[in-house]
This record gives sequence, C-alpha cells and structure tokens, in this order.
Amino acid sequence: MEHPHRPKMIIGNWKMHKTIVEARTFVSGLAVAASHCPVQVGLAVPFTMIAPAAEAARGTTVMIGAQNVHEAPDGAFTGEISCQMLKDAGASFVIIGHSERRQLFHEDSSWINRKVKSALNDGLRTILCIGETLEQHQADKTNAILHDQLMHSLEGIKADQLKHVVLAYEPVWAIGTGLTATPEMAQKVHRFCRETIAKNWGKDTAADFMVLYGGSVKSDNAEALLEQSQVDGLLVGGASLELETFSKIIQIGARVF
Ligand code: PGA
Repeated sequence: MEHPHRPKMIIGNWKMHKTIVEARTFVSGLAVAASHCPVQVGLAVPFTMIAPAAEAARGTTVMIGAQNVHEAPDGAFTGEISCQMLKDAGASFVIIGHSERRQLFHEDSSWINRKVKSALNDGLRTILCIGETLEQHQADKTNAILHDQLMHSLEGIKADQLKHVVLAYEPVWAIGTGLTATPEMAQKVHRFCRETIAKNWGKDTAADFMVLYGGSVKSDNAEALLEQSQVDGLLVGGASLELETFSKIIQIGARVF
C-alpha cells in the first residue's frame, strides 16, 4: 500500500492568532513560497480572516480554510458558522475534530461525524484530526483509540466521498508541547490508519487516502517526518505563525516530494 503518487500537503493551523492586516501580508508572502511548488499548501485561519485571506490568495496556489464549522445549514445557533458561510467567505477546506475542539469544547466523534457529512455534502474538503492522549499512549491504547475515532468520525461516509477527506494524525501529547512522534512512530500509526481505511472502504481508496502528521512540527524535524512513505504531509500549528519558518517547511516538503 505504499503509494508514491499521493500528493503532499502542508497545512498551517493558526488557531486563535493574528489580525486581518497580518493575514493579508502573510498570504501574499506564502503565495511566493508556494508557487511552482509540488506541495499543496493551505492555511486554516480564524473565521474573521477567511475573506481577506482568500482575497489575498486569489490567483495563487494557496488554499484558505477554516478551523471549525457547524453542521446545520442555518438556524438559531448563536456564535456558529455554517459550511455555506465558509464557502461564501472563500474557504475551500475545513479542519474538523481538532483535539482542542474535542477536549476544550467537548466535541465527540458523533458530532464530528455530523460535521464531516455536512462539509462533504457542501463541497468543503475536510481535514479530519484524530489523536490519542499521553495517558492512552502510555497505556498502549493508541491503535484502539484511533480506530474508534476514525470509524465513528467517518461513519456513513462513502468511498467516493473519502477522496475529499484528508486525515491528520495529531498525538495530543505532541501538540504545542515540543514533543514529536518519531518519524518511525508516525509511519507505523499512519500505516495502521491506512489499513483501517482499506479494510472498511477498500484498498484503492486507502492507497489514495492522504494522511498528514501534526504535533510540534518544526523546520528541523519536518524532513525526517516527510521522508516516511506513509506521511503525506504536515499539519503545522505554532511553526506556521512565522512566514520564514513556514516557508522553510514548505521548501523542505518540495525537496522531499
Ligand atoms: P503545534 O500544533 O504544531 O503547535 O504542535 C499542531 C496543531 O494543533 O494542529
């Protein structure tokens, strides 16, 4: 199930950082780093920055996305944003199920599943995050937890819809901590995820299915991670806030590609 033809993707996740002016300038700079680059480059910005960032990205290869979405098309959901609203603002993808959403905002896999379904029905590419906590990792429960998250989050999703889903394996113990899964660990876990997809959605779907790694990715560990045949790209938090660092990671991706 090694698949040298899968594209590589590097996505920045800004979380709750920056301003509209900063987003515009950053995206213009990022477009330069991403041009003539074989890697698909995207930036998940806060809701308020989607429209200006998408405007700055117009005509470039940079994709702009959101970090969360609500599953309903509209209605009395104070403070929430729908898939159509994201598309209207210029987003082409959305991160769903980030561990911060799961832990701090109590999103469970069945809620995440409803969000994934809405995003796919509305034509938004989905970056689905899964990951185990330190406790689960130490108790050797990683595969069981990931299997559970994957199967519940993707329940009812058809094989042809999976083309629009990118999985991001983000061990919770590695996010923002400076601890990273070793490249070998990432390789092993990604292979397990791909096998789970193969068993449930078929080998061909699994061969094309992209799996990114996230959790304390920096310019000095990106290369070793991207060299793994099962690592199709990166989801980068802290290191995507500085244009120079993020551009460097993209250049590494282009070299390893
Ligand atoms: P980090 O965040 O790179 O700062 O660890 C990754 C993420 O949460 O997506």
